[in-house]
Amino acid sequence: MKRIAIFASGAGSNAQKILAHFKTGNKVEVALIVSNKPNAGVLNFAKEYSVPTLIIDREKFLKGDGYVAELQAAKIDWIILAGFLWKIPVSLLNHWEKRIINIHPALLPKYGGKGMYGEAVHQAVITANEKESGITIHYVDEQYDHGATIFQATCPVLPTDNAASLANKIHALEHLHYPVIIEKEILSHSA
Ligand code: GAR
Repeated sequence: MKRIAIFASGAGSNAQKILAHFKTGNKVEVALIVSNKPNAGVLNFAKEYSVPTLIIDREKFLKGDGYVAELQAAKIDWIILAGFLWKIPVSLLNHWEKRIINIHPALLPKYGGKGMYGEAVHQAVITANEKESGITIHYVDEQYDHGATIFQATCPVLPTDNAASLANKIHALEHLHYPVIIEKEILSHSA
């Protein structure tokens, strides 16, 4: 059984889909939900699925070995970011090398980088009059929204779309693909 930790800062709709996807499997299990916000919506899903939670503090997260010991104690094999706001420190990148995956709500390399999170991304896509947007699932490296791409899927941006309607379309794409791609990626490395 491969054990994953989901890192999420917000509502946690992607975390919910991942929890549901792996609930009955026997190869991958969600072993921990990590959040930087003690009142994040994602924590309700952790409770619903009886998954332990870890609330992290920014100073400790960024300093030295940060939360490596806590994640090792929970025997975490893979780290899955699902709407997580903070940059991943080198300590985690070193200990979980090529074992940290992120989802970004746009077609990277466009519309990524610091501050490009949630609605801000969709607003930038609308403002630029893009005809297409989508999702990018990628490995995490030391730069924001930068590591090797694993998967992309697209959706049209219509003249009638605004940031909220585009966010809905993107969320639907994320929910459809993220759990499946996570499973494929983890299993392809465990063969
Ligand atoms: C998702 O759309 C995810 O792609 C995005 O945050 C949202 C979280 O929604 N992540 C980023 O923007 C990372 N740069 P959720 O809490 O409902 O899963």
